Amino acid sequence: MHVLHVVGARPNFMKVAPVHAAFRGRPGVRQTLVHTGQHYDANLSDIFFEQLQIPRPDVSLEVGSGSHAVQTAEIMIRFEKTILERKPDLVLVYGDVNSTVAATLVCAKLGTKIAHVEAGLRSFDRTMPEEINRLVTDQLADMLLIPSEEAEENLLREGVARGKIHFVGNVMIDTLRTLLPQARMPEIPGLGDKFALVTLHRPSNVDEPETLQRILETLTTISESLQIVFPVHPRTKARIESLGFHFENSNRIFTIPPTGYLECLALQQRAVVVVTDSGGLQEETTALGVPCLTVRENTERPITVTHGTNTLVGTDMKLLLKEVGKIQAGRGKGGRIPPLWDGCASERIADVILHPQIIPLRKVA
Ligand code: UD1
Repeated sequence: MHVLHVVGARPNFMKVAPVHAAFRGRPGVRQTLVHTGQHYDANLSDIFFEQLQIPRPDVSLEVGSGSHAVQTAEIMIRFEKTILERKPDLVLVYGDVNSTVAATLVCAKLGTKIAHVEAGLRSFDRTMPEEINRLVTDQLADMLLIPSEEAEENLLREGVARGKIHFVGNVMIDTLRTLLPQARMPEIPGLGDKFALVTLHRPSNVDEPETLQRILETLTTISESLQIVFPVHPRTKARIESLGFHFENSNRIFTIPPTGYLECLALQQRAVVVVTDSGGLQEETTALGVPCLTVRENTERPITVTHGTNTLVGTDMKLLLKEVGKIQAGRGKGGRIPPLWDGCASERIADVILHPQIIPLRKVA
């Protein structure tokens, strides 16, 4: 079987790594890896290939940045040629980025089978570009590989046939478990033992100047009692610069470039609290048992709230301050590991794709 994987942006890389590795051990499988180039900076892309030991892409589409329409269309134009040349039996798409939906549209029109890893997640917020990508991808995919059980209800509600849905667990946790022993703190001179890790890049938080200003001012307040490490995404960096905002207390707030995967794991593991709007960090903190405060009104990963350590604070900065205070006082939320976040999701994916006849269709645990 010829399996072709499509990745493009940072959150795809930790998902493809274990799935590609799981297929490498299976007889009769040929793999092709396509990188669309949606993320092209070394610290958003190359470092992940290196640390996660993902093979070099067989095909690089080098699309780069652009508006959503331009980026999606450019990926479609270039990816269609790849599919026509390479003729895979199955295309695996990951997560919810523009590369995911673009590749899915191309395959659906060419009649190439698609499996979606991390299917069925819903924030129910259509102002999020990722929600649009999730909805379209799941309507068109032939196999929906879900990380948590509530995803099945979401898909059934949207009319997806039950037989296409496979509960395989969370591939992000496969990567986390494999690489946790190698996690390493970045060197940050002046950083003590107790700190908060902050990441922000959602358009809803960083594109609106007033919202961003309020968040940055709140971080300044938090930093009076807790040091902050803030790896700054390129989108966020540009928005902070155009606001003309500068953190004054540079020995309390450490702004650093986006980190590698191993550094991000170590920072999360050692943090007193993680304040974020990332999907991946909500999951990783739940797996690590570290309190997470999510600066969003909703999440497509509700299991991190019901089972895990995640609390949604929205853009209510008073609530954020209150929750940080609770965590510092040792009254942070505990959590438990969701079902099938066990490090074996990728092997289940390989099983269900290669042996659909012997794997029960719904629960493959
Ligand atoms: C994308 C994904 C989002 C994911 C995030 C992780 C979509 C719709 N969004 O959002 O789901 O959580 O990646 O990072 O696919 N840029 C660089 N260097 C790069 C890539 C981008 O400087 O390597 C700049 C772009 O020029 C743009 C900004 O960063 O100004 C945003 O990049 P873009 O890929 O459009 O979206 P993200 O916000 O990164």
